[in-house]
Parts: sequence; structure tokens; C-alpha cells
Amino acid sequence: MNDFLVMSHAEAKLVKGTFDAMIRGGKGPDFARAFYHHLFEIAPEVRDWFPKDMAEQNRKLVRTLGVLLKNLPEWHDVVGPVRALGPQHGPFPIGPQHFEAFVTCLFKAMEEVMGASMVPDVLIPFRMAFLRLGEEMMRAGRRR
Ligand code: HEM
Repeated sequence: MNDFLVMSHAEAKLVKGTFDAMIRGGKGPDFARAFYHHLFEIAPEVRDWFPKDMAEQNRKLVRTLGVLLKNLPEWHDVVGPVRALGPQHGPFPIGPQHFEAFVTCLFKAMEEVMGASMVPDVLIPFRMAFLRLGEEMMRAGRRR
């Protein structure tokens, strides 16, 4: 399992490049605001799990996505930062539908900020990676 690739090296470069270009020029906060706006619309039950003031959470989301993408595509590089998020998620009844919503909102927010559609070459590896890493994050949270 140590040599498992979350996605190909070329895909990782493409995905990271797309994210970096999207947040360039101080667009990180716009992206995070749009992301949580859509998430709370699609899954209103999760609103109360988050703080009322989302400023800090917005910063954490952008920073963490950057760290995860930087550590792709090797499983053994990305798994540490992913497992470290377990304790913050373990206490909540987060299910597969929330990960679906998470990925949907991620793309929606990115497309809004970019003003362009995500291409399948980026969308598919991004989606597969997040669902796979999310599963590991929740497993790490439950282990504690
Ligand atoms: C791989 C996908 C995900 C990533 C990268 C991620 C990222 C983060 C980050 C960076 C934090 C802040 C941790 C800290 O305080 O240091 C956080 C907290 C949190 N996330 Fe996620 N998350 C993911 C999936 C989800 C999903 C699917 C849900 C369900 C709606 C969720 C709900 C929460 C909640 C409730 C908190 C804690 C808020 C608080 O206590 O202030 N996350 N997440």
C-alpha cells in the first residue's frame, strides 16, 4: 500500500495547477465563501457543525487543500496530512452523502471563481482522490 498512487503524476500536476491558478490573486477567500455557501445550501444539516463566524474556517480550508494537493500523488506523502484531519471530523456524523456534497461544492465554487468549467481531465482525478482520501480521514478519526 505504501507505493499506492492516488492519481498519476501528470494528473496531480494538472489538478494542483488548476487549483493554484484559481486562487491566484487573492481569490482564496472568494472560493472558500462560495464553497461553504453551496455546502450549507445542499446539506443544511451541517451548518450547525461549523462555527458561526467562518473566517478562520475559510482560511483553514484553502490552506489545507493547498497542502494536500502539494503532497499528491503519492499515498505515503498525502496520508499524513489527511489522517491529521481525522480528529476534527471524527465527532460528526459525516456520511458518504456529505463527501458527495463536498466534492460537488468544491467544483461549483472553483468554476465560479475561474469563470470556466472544469475539464474532465481535472474533474475525474480530483473527485476520485477526495473520496478516497476522505474515507481515510474518517477512518483515522474513528480510530481515536
Ligand atoms: C477530504 C475532504 C475534507 C477536507 C480536506 C476538509 C478540511 C477541513 C479542515 C482543514 C478543517 C479545519 C480543521 C482544523 O480546525 O484545524 C475541517 C473541519 C471540519 N470539517 Fe472538514 N474537510 C473535508 C471533508 C468534510 C466533510 C465531508 C464534512 C461534512 C460536512 C466536513 C465537516 C467539517 C467540520 C464539521 C469541521 C469542524 C468545524 C469546527 O469544529 O470548527 N469536512 N475540515
